Amino acid sequence: MYLGDIGVVLAVLLIAVLIFQGRRKNALPYPPGPKALPIIGNLTDMAAKSLWHPATRWAKQFGMFCVLSHVFGQGIVFVNTSQAATELLDKKGSIYSDKPNMVMARELVGLDGLMVFTGYGDQFRRQRRLMQRAVGPQVVSKYHPMLEVETKAFLRRLLTSPENYTEHLIGYAGGKTLMIVYGHQVKSSHDPLLALADEGTDIIKGLASGIGIWPVDVVPALKSLPNWFPGAGFKRNAVYWKRRMQDFVDVPFQSVLTAVNNGTALPSFCSLLLDGDTSNTEEHYDIKWLSSSMYSASIDTTLTMASLFILAMVLNPRVLKKAQAEIDTVVGTKRLPLFSDRASLPYIDAIMSETFRWGCPVPLSIPHRLMEDDVYEGKFIPKGSLIFANIWAMVRDETLYPNPEEFLPERFLADDDELLKKRKNPRNFVFGFGRRRCPGANLVEQSIWILIASMIAALDISKAQDEKGAYIEPEIIFDDNIFRLPKPFKLSVKVRSKQAEQLLEQA
Ligand code: HEM
Repeated sequence: MYLGDIGVVLAVLLIAVLIFQGRRKNALPYPPGPKALPIIGNLTDMAAKSLWHPATRWAKQFGMFCVLSHVFGQGIVFVNTSQAATELLDKKGSIYSDKPNMVMARELVGLDGLMVFTGYGDQFRRQRRLMQRAVGPQVVSKYHPMLEVETKAFLRRLLTSPENYTEHLIGYAGGKTLMIVYGHQVKSSHDPLLALADEGTDIIKGLASGIGIWPVDVVPALKSLPNWFPGAGFKRNAVYWKRRMQDFVDVPFQSVLTAVNNGTALPSFCSLLLDGDTSNTEEHYDIKWLSSSMYSASIDTTLTMASLFILAMVLNPRVLKKAQAEIDTVVGTKRLPLFSDRASLPYIDAIMSETFRWGCPVPLSIPHRLMEDDVYEGKFIPKGSLIFANIWAMVRDETLYPNPEEFLPERFLADDDELLKKRKNPRNFVFGFGRRRCPGANLVEQSIWILIASMIAALDISKAQDEKGAYIEPEIIFDDNIFRLPKPFKLSVKVRSKQAEQLLEQA
């Protein structure tokens, strides 16, 4: 970049910072936060891996309700308590449900239709209605048979090479999601739709890494740089990503559309929504993008949640033994658990709740954009701020969850009054807040339950052993910025019994 251009960019950034710092309603103070450097603000603080840890430290240092920092003038607010999240994100949902105008993702890569990037408005409302129709609480049970089949197939593959459990989980998450969303059955790991979908989710993850803000989001004028210009590599990437994302969105949708028209479509999210009307173009646009939104939102969350569950079992053999005893008593050993057993398996439910809490798959949720200036507890929160719900701090709240670092499913079986039981439910937090709360939560409730229950019933999961039989401590590393995904660790997975093996072999 030429010196003159750098000067222009810096000047624009400076103006953004001055505007940010200059706007203050009734001279009310901003929420306190870590010291910001001139112009770049808290850029280096925000670049931290596992940002939820520094955010939680700042919360303790500066006050729990929220902490503000900024990057190039872009205000960033961490909401650290469930009370503040309820007051702001739930009760004031009409101003706290927008998304930042991500020039890179929405304009340059063309992902305007992806739900997670959609601004708060008509399109967003249409998407939520469609989601409700396809994965709302009244309808998710229709996915039960398919989930039972896919889960069993995953367990079989896992036993062939447990050390590759991450690859098996990715295959399972991808296959299950392609089946649910498009009715497409993955027959091998070389499936072309699976490959396309994997690439699409990788591109979205790349776009959203860090805090998901690109320089061009802060200084939209940068989008006018010619593609060949030094420093305009982001534009060249955007051209390529846009083309690939178009395929990711169009190819599977077109094949469902053809199948629906031919009367050969398998039941799926997409075919269900297309049912009866294959000509409405606005609805096509919504369904097409919503299907991709579901796909991309499902893969990493499923992988993360399942990996956290496996890690919990490796680290807590006592819990696994107790859960297996519950299943053996209630279900017996002649079949695998079914959804209809759920009400009789409270300890399995408690394990699932504790995995949500202890594991905390999306610790800082996904940021919302504040649409108007706001005041909370006497502090000024400027319009345009990005709002991060610090779910991590909430599920580590010692007043609600004593010894929060310990994996203790029993905390959900205590003799608490109904009100406390409700307050302790981690589903209040882990799916985000307000009008943007995860629309896949009902489906997750089904898919993760059957996965957890089947694994407990059929498998012994434990620490790996070395050649002398000594247990190897798993090396636990979290290095993702959005998901709390443990990097693959050493473990042992064995089928529990000959009978369990036969059950898994039955189609
Ligand atoms: C363990 C599993 C999952 C967890 C913990 C989880 C959590 C979350 C969280 C924290 C958000 C952000 C909410 C907010 O902005 O306040 C979110 C958004 C979203 N989730 Fe999930 N999710 C999971 C699985 C799924 C699945 C399986 C699907 C699809 C079927 C899905 C679809 C979505 C979509 C489309 C959004 C964007 C919603 C919007 O921006 O309006 N999620 N999820």
